[in-house]
Amino acid sequence: MKRTSTIYICQSCGAETAQFFGKCSSCGAWNSIIEEKIYSSKEKYRSKSIIESQTKIKCRSEPISSIKANTVSRLSSGYKEFDRVLGGGLVPGSLVLIGGDPGIGKSTLLLQAATEIALKHSTIYISAEESASQVQMRWRRLEKIESNLHILSETNCEIVLEELERFNPSVAIIDSIQALQDHTISSTPGSISQVKECAASLQQIAKTKNIALLIVGHVTKEGMLAGPKVLEHLVDTVLTFEGDRFASHRLLRAVKNRFGATNELGVFEMQDKGLAEVLNPSELFLNTELASGVATIVACEGTRPLAIDIQALLNQTTYASPRRTATGIENNRLHQILAVIEKHMNLVLSRFDCYLAVAGGLEVDEPAADLGIAAAIISSYKNCKLPAGTVLIGEIGLGGQLRTVGQMSLRLHEVARLGFKRVVIPKTMGKEKINNQDIEIIEATTVSEALTSVLGIDI
Ligand code: TYD
Ligand code: MG
Repeated sequence: MKRTSTIYICQSCGAETAQFFGKCSSCGAWNSIIEEKIYSSKEKYRSKSIIESQTKIKCRSEPISSIKANTVSRLSSGYKEFDRVLGGGLVPGSLVLIGGDPGIGKSTLLLQAATEIALKHSTIYISAEESASQVQMRWRRLEKIESNLHILSETNCEIVLEELERFNPSVAIIDSIQALQDHTISSTPGSISQVKECAASLQQIAKTKNIALLIVGHVTKEGMLAGPKVLEHLVDTVLTFEGDRFASHRLLRAVKNRFGATNELGVFEMQDKGLAEVLNPSELFLNTELASGVATIVACEGTRPLAIDIQALLNQTTYASPRRTATGIENNRLHQILAVIEKHMNLVLSRFDCYLAVAGGLEVDEPAADLGIAAAIISSYKNCKLPAGTVLIGEIGLGGQLRTVGQMSLRLHEVARLGFKRVVIPKTMGKEKINNQDIEIIEATTVSEALTSVLGIDI
């Protein structure tokens, strides 16, 4: 009897079958079964002996310290904010995927960056969504300086690859991967197999020709990057471009970065002549005139401190159970802080509706914002303004105690830079002595101690 030389293995659970199935009978996953060749022990032995004969040398591995450093010079995108998120600039031969909602400004950002890069390096902008004249129209609107940027309007993946091969640029932009089509695959553009195939061939050319590739990816209704997860695994860097449709600022974040830190943040503002960098974003989210119910915090996005206003509104409720709504902060966090205030500061908040919002449509998910949130709530409850020039930083524990937060010196530096006079922080218990001559630092152990010292009244 002839031995089977192939088996079918489910890529999801690893189950083996002798026959192909559309659905794995073991784990139930669809289209996960792949044919694999099995080697007979004879063949295995043969290939092993070939390797051995080729390597009659010493072992292949080497000590980590003796590996020759391959210093890559990064290419600047022409925008400090963009470079910061990339971890210092574009790495030649790398793939960067940029995702974001439609109309958020991905094409605008990349066209602007491409124009700047083209001043120094050969750059091509491949648009699969717009015609060359449409791209030019946008470019004219941006009023950019003349540069030697090449434009190609093409949806056929093979032609795109051919052009990359021929032109051999340092940087190429693909807008977008979902609009590209590989004609060897019958499915429609944007389908999983198309996206996967196009991305794989683009990756191959990027690595062999040392091209830095920037690829635009669409997001689904749920906000996930469309296409298979494999696309995110394939690329070196995944960036998301996000923002509020009603506000003009746009945030560029690194979700994955093989060449830099993630959670870095770049801030841009959409103007009538394209995107402008916001080098001092704290000023964007701060109000000069303080009202009751407003408190200032310093939240860290990656290594970037941002001073942000938190607004709270407490109103006598007319409902059976009070309404608690938070924008930009998790609702559970608001409930937790309200519970701590009720219990440890003896305030009855159950008769009040509570609305909480972060200024400028930002999202804050850091516990370091807790003290600021509590201060905004108390300030609205007491109907008194917090003293001007005061910043509150600290996490609130369930026992009403203040807990220290990370990157304190970075935050204090930002506080001083923006000209604030006072900052309330958790007592550090001698862990990290903080000295800053320019600002008055108030250390508190509990939330009520912190707020009493800020508001100057007994709560
Ligand atoms: P676009 O880059 O086309 O978005 P995406 O590629 O992410 O879908 O951005 C389009 C939006 O940006 C559009 O709503 C208009 C706005 N915009 C400006 O406000 N100013 C400008 O100078 C440009 C070029 C666009
Ligand atoms: Mg676009």
